[in-house]
Amino acid sequence: MRLAVTGATGFVGGAVCRAAVAEGWQVTAFGRRPEADARHVGGAAYRSWDIGAGRLADPPGVDAVVHCAASATDTGVAREVWRTNLLGTHHVLVSFPACRLVHVSSASVYDPRRPTVRAKEHEAPVDRYFNAYAAAKAAAEQLVLSVARDPVVLRPHAVYGAGDTTLLPRLLENVRCGRLLVPGTGRVLVSMTEVDSLARACLLAAAAAKAWPSVYNVADSAPVTIDWAVRGLLASAGVRARPVYLPAWLLTPPARLFPGGRLNRYVISQFAVERTLDITAAIDRLGYEPVPTKFPAKFPAA
Ligand SMILES: NC(=O)c1ccc[n+]([C@@H]2O[C@H](COP(=O)([O-])OP(=O)(O)OC[C@H]3O[C@@H](n4cnc5c(N)ncnc54)[C@H](OP(=O)(O)O)[C@@H]3O)[C@@H](O)[C@H]2O)c1
Repeated sequence: MRLAVTGATGFVGGAVCRAAVAEGWQVTAFGRRPEADARHVGGAAYRSWDIGAGRLADPPGVDAVVHCAASATDTGVAREVWRTNLLGTHHVLVSFPACRLVHVSSASVYDPRRPTVRAKEHEAPVDRYFNAYAAAKAAAEQLVLSVARDPVVLRPHAVYGAGDTTLLPRLLENVRCGRLLVPGTGRVLVSMTEVDSLARACLLAAAAAKAWPSVYNVADSAPVTIDWAVRGLLASAGVRARPVYLPAWLLTPPARLFPGGRLNRYVISQFAVERTLDITAAIDRLGYEPVPTKFPAKFPAA
């Protein structure tokens, strides 16, 4: 199989490249930066492409694309987030119009105002989001599903593993004096997604003979509590810190307590209420094999 991977220099895209190369796929890796670490992309051929700037002039012939490139931030400049996540997805679609497109979306497309309880795929999108990231991810999904000839949308949540660029670094940068302020009680459940399992799901989706329905939640085998996850992530990074929980009502308006704006409505919505996914469709239709959530001792952030 010939595969193109966007966002290959990132956390998820790198794992997809390495898994695909290990399985013998012929991989072309795309990232925005001029050059990539060959080990990160599993030795795949690398090309630089800013997907927000325009379509690819000379796309390689491939059987499938795994589209991981995104501005994956909840605090980014909205214009840049929309440029990459929606306009960039349009450019990926027109560059590769005829093949399977595996679009790595996000569980952020579920309703941020209500708990996500074993959410099924049809429960998103909704009409309002808290930030440009979630809104643009939802819009990109709709674009892919309406335009791509052969689309598969995957929705992971809280992706973790070695080389994490998002979740773990974000926790670590908020540790102060051995404490990490976390919204909520820590007792609510969250579905997490191990990065290599997500990479395997991407390859299953790329190779599936018939990928119907086209939208799949992708997460570990069972949810965990926020407290268990936060303590496990901190310990896995070798950081001695304990979570201190703040009732969500204390955080309104969040900007008053946290002038830096790091603890925004979106973050509160991710930690203070349940965020769990039903993964039955991915197991039954894609052959996805979820793993239990487990944090190896000492895995580094990027
Ligand atoms: N991490 C999570 O917890 C999580 C959860 C749910 C969903 N997701 C989704 O998973 C996907 C991958 O996320 P990630 O965690 O791997 O993020 P990441 O580590 O920040 O990687 C982002 C990738 O996108 C590329 N990129 C950004 N802007 C680009 C542009 N304008 N043109 C071309 N490439 C561009 C980056 O390239 P350069 O580095 O070369 O600039 C990088 O390769 C995203 O779609 C994200 O929404 C992630």
